[in-house]
Amino acid sequence: MKKRVLSGIQPTGSPHIGNYLGALKSWARIQYDYDSIYCIVDLHAITAYQDPLELRNKIEELAGMLLAIGIDPAHSALVVQSSVPEHAELAWMLTCVTPVGWLERMTQYKAKSEAQESIGDGLLQYPVLMAADILLYQAAIVPVGEDQTQHLELARDIAQRFNSLYGETFVMPATHLPTVGARIMGLDDPEKKMSKSTSGAAHAISLLDPPNVIRKKIMRATTDSEPGVNFENPGAGVRNLLTIFQAFNEWSDDRMKDHFTGMRYGDLKKQVADAVVNALTPIQQRYHEIRQEAGYIERVLEEGAKRVGPLARATVHTAKKAMGLFTAD
Ligand code: AMP
Ligand code: TRP
Repeated sequence: MKKRVLSGIQPTGSPHIGNYLGALKSWARIQYDYDSIYCIVDLHAITAYQDPLELRNKIEELAGMLLAIGIDPAHSALVVQSSVPEHAELAWMLTCVTPVGWLERMTQYKAKSEAQESIGDGLLQYPVLMAADILLYQAAIVPVGEDQTQHLELARDIAQRFNSLYGETFVMPATHLPTVGARIMGLDDPEKKMSKSTSGAAHAISLLDPPNVIRKKIMRATTDSEPGVNFENPGAGVRNLLTIFQAFNEWSDDRMKDHFTGMRYGDLKKQVADAVVNALTPIQQRYHEIRQEAGYIERVLEEGAKRVGPLARATVHTAKKAMGLFTAD
């Protein structure tokens, strides 16, 4: 039997090249080697207020984008988290074996809660729900960007704790990071991770940005005052541009070094912009085709939920029995 892969992405903001290089590209690539389930995690999205109409639209847009980047619904299950109630059900069981201290230590929680006067409980519970997504399907491999590694360690800790209290129930999930592109930085500020929620004209490149916008954003990207690329020790902005190029074009380190050493920043930026435009153009074409096919996305999502439902129900049944909760048998 093939091992299971699972990952998730929130239907908020617009997916950007950080999401693509950190996670989505791996999703598409490894889907045929595994039994794969990819989730649009709308229950995670509502840990911050979302306009209801907008959220509903974003779910469908994101589904369209995941199909456009190559998720093959004949092979992978594409699932909206809230359409499978067992995600939330298992999350509660896991909540009850998770010390609050573990959750308060999460750096993403600390960063998000710092900015707020009143902290929603959902923000603290966020990684428990993520653990539930993974453990619900007994996933062995979880392809994500680097910012999710701490959440994955926590998912393993929760699984271990449940298994030791109630008997072997969950598979231990391994983190899968891309070799290049696990952490793409903001173009305007290469000290900060590229993020959907950071505004700023030239912070992120959305997967749907038209070519002229992509070029403009890259030409404006922050570099430094060196005359050309110091390949061994580039500044953060230049390193980020090189990473973006390498991740899209899949060049070896040696080829990168030979090609870019000493190159002037204007030329570097032009080549990076070409690489991004070349990669995104066919994705955008597919996206627009998919959005025009009436009813297609809904069908894919319905089919995905149908496919994973029995797996989710089986795990919840096992976990309930292990805990002594009420089951029919
Ligand atoms: P999110 O947008 O937070 O739902 O993230 C979806 C996926 O994209 C997760 O696997 C993240 O780790 C990944 N990701 C988000 N931002 C970046 C980034 N700047 N660089 C690399 N991967 C990222
Ligand atoms: N928390 C992840 C993020 O924001 C999204 C996510 C939710 C996820 N559930 C998951 C990722 C399960 C991997 C596996 O990036």
